[in-house]
Amino acid sequence: MTTDVLQIELRKAERSRLQEVDFNHLPFGKHFSDHMFVADFVDGEWQNQMIVPFDNFTLSPALSSLHYGQSIFEGMKAFKNEAGEVLMFRPQANFARMNESAKRMCMATLPEEVFMGGLETLLRIDADWVPNTPDSSLYIRPYMFATDTYLGVAPSKTYRFCIFTCPVGAYYSNPPKLKVETEFIRSAPGGVGYAKCAGNYGGSLYPTLMAQQQGYDQLIWTDAREHKYIEESGTMNIIFVIDGKIVTPATSDSILKGVTRDSILKIARSWGMEVEERLVSIEEVISGIETGRLTEAFGAGTAVGSSPYSLIGYNGKDYMLPEFAPEDSVAVRVRNYLSDLRTGKIADSFGWMHRV
Ligand code: COI
Repeated sequence: MTTDVLQIELRKAERSRLQEVDFNHLPFGKHFSDHMFVADFVDGEWQNQMIVPFDNFTLSPALSSLHYGQSIFEGMKAFKNEAGEVLMFRPQANFARMNESAKRMCMATLPEEVFMGGLETLLRIDADWVPNTPDSSLYIRPYMFATDTYLGVAPSKTYRFCIFTCPVGAYYSNPPKLKVETEFIRSAPGGVGYAKCAGNYGGSLYPTLMAQQQGYDQLIWTDAREHKYIEESGTMNIIFVIDGKIVTPATSDSILKGVTRDSILKIARSWGMEVEERLVSIEEVISGIETGRLTEAFGAGTAVGSSPYSLIGYNGKDYMLPEFAPEDSVAVRVRNYLSDLRTGKIADSFGWMHRV
C-alpha cells in the first residue's frame, strides 16, 4: 500500500505490541512503537520512503558510518491534548538542526517533505502510542547514517534516514548530581560540538562513567582551552538563576543549540525575566552558590525537559543547591508551563505546537 500524496510505501505490523507496555511506568528509551519510517539517499536523491514494522536492519560489516562516524540524530517529542489530538513540539527546529548537523558531517541534507512527511505519517499510524499520562510523552528519534560499503576515508555517497518513536516517562527520577569536568573535554573550538553527531556522545561516556563511579549522575563540560567556562552537560544545556536573572552559556561551535534551551529563554523573556547569554565561569557559579546569589541550576533538553540539579561537584567538593517550593522555582514553573502548552491546556502563544 502507498500513502497518497507522499509516496510512502506502507507495510503495517501484523500485531501491535501496544498491550505489552505499562503506560503508567514508562522507562526512558526501552519501548519502541510498532512502526518506523525509513528512506534511503541513493544516486543523489532520497527514495524508497517506507513505513514498516519496527525491526532490525541488515547491514554490511564495511558500513562506513560504523568505521568513520558519519551518524547524526535528533530528539523531539509529541504529546496528546485533552481532545486526544497528537501535537509535536517545534519539529521545524529539529528539522533545521538536523540539516546543520548533516552539513558539518558532510552528509546528505534532508528535504522538508521527507522529514516532516515521514514524521507526520508515522505519528498518524502510531498515534495510539502517544501517552497521555502525566510527565509522559512520545520521544521521537530521527537519525541518519552513512551506508556506503567502502573503507576509504571519504564522505559516503549513500545514507539511510530513519525515524522511530518510544513512549517515555521522566529521564531522571531524581534531581541529578552534576560534576564539573576539568580534565576531559566534550568538544573544542572548530570541532563538531554544535552538531548532534553520534561521536559527541560516544566520547562523553568514559568521563561520565568516571564521575558516576564517584556518585554523580552527569558532567558539566568546561571549555577545552582553560577548563574555566561552563559549556553544557551530557544530555542537556545548562541554565542558572543568578541575582534573579536567567544566565546561561552563549551557544558556540562547541555547544549544542538546544531547542528546549531556546524555548525556556523565550518563555522567561515573555515573563519579563532578564536573560543573559554569555560566558559563565565556574568561579562565578561556585561563588554564587556560596553567597546565595545563585539560586538555581537546571538542565534543559528534550529528553530531560527542565530538570533542576541537586548539587554541583567541583574540585572534590560538593555544593548543594537550595530546595524550593515548586511555585518559587523557575525550573519548575517553566516545566509546568511547557507541560501545559504541550498538552493544549494553555494557548500556544509562541506558535510552537504542530498538530499531526
Ligand atoms: C535529547 O534530549 O533528545 C537528547 O538527544 C539527549 C539524549 C537522550 C542523547
